[in-house]
Amino acid sequence: MELGIAGRTALICGASRGMGRAIARQLAREGVIVTMLARRVGPLGEAAAAISAETGTTPRIVAADITTEAGRRAALAACPTPDILVTNADGPPPGDFRAYSRADWIAALDALMLAPIALMQASVDAMAARGFGRVVNIVSRSVKIAQAELALSNGARSGLVGFTAGLAREMVRFNVTINNLLPGPFDTDAQRRHVEGLAERTGRPYQTLWEERRAANPAGRFGMPEEIGAYCAFLCSAQAGFITGQNLLVDGGAYPGTY
Ligand SMILES: NC(=O)c1ccc[n+]([C@@H]2O[C@H](COP(=O)([O-])OP(=O)(O)OC[C@H]3O[C@@H](n4cnc5c(N)ncnc54)[C@H](OP(=O)(O)O)[C@@H]3O)[C@@H](O)[C@H]2O)c1
Repeated sequence: MELGIAGRTALICGASRGMGRAIARQLAREGVIVTMLARRVGPLGEAAAAISAETGTTPRIVAADITTEAGRRAALAACPTPDILVTNADGPPPGDFRAYSRADWIAALDALMLAPIALMQASVDAMAARGFGRVVNIVSRSVKIAQAELALSNGARSGLVGFTAGLAREMVRFNVTINNLLPGPFDTDAQRRHVEGLAERTGRPYQTLWEERRAANPAGRFGMPEEIGAYCAFLCSAQAGFITGQNLLVDGGAYPGTY
């Protein structure tokens, strides 16, 4: 299927590893002019070089922390008018909400709610003026199935989802769509860090926990980043202009509800 986005520009946050990298790769394969952002330049350069070798395009890279104003300025300097915006950053570590300070909450809100909103604020009106825009926020299934140990994530990500529900309806008439992808368990570094944290807190072996999580999913496996890459690319396609304001689970069927 021809996605109709060759030559479009994309700013992809959290793009050196995991799902962000897979999204950058898939969009580059579709002919999109990709700007990849992450904090550490080494893995970012390596990811961009791999995409370049595969696709023949040369992604721009920006080493910046998207949770800071300076980081967002650097991102938008490299890609001032993205047609496609993918927001993504590390989730906070698991813990007990009783131990969280105000600073912990502000850091979670900065990363998971306020940074994506600031990037949308900077880009959606220009998308509307051009008559095309696609925003995809990488969120988490935790907004539908709260996990008690992920209190910061449950709370902060829900703020983003609530905000986008309104903005999406305002922008769609200009062919600017905004959707949230809600990954379940994916085979990435973030999942490994999460399981390491659980192993530390429970004293149970890492490998046992990893296998339990894999087996507990109806699919009997973790999701692969490429699966998010392909789904995201479709949401960014010319054909996806009537899909907006949606919270889309990609979780191997783990969400237990019928609707
Ligand atoms: N994997 C799962 O099972 C799963 C499930 C549900 C939700 N999620 C969420 O989905 C998102 C992506 O997960 P993933 O598994 O793809 O993560 P990952 O493999 O750890 O990759 C995260 C990427 O984001 C970059 N990054 C992190 N914080 C950043 C920041 N403040 N500014 C700029 N770049 C930043 C990282 O590079 P640098 O470290 O160099 O910045 C890296 O490129 C995360 O929010 C995660 O919590 C993951």
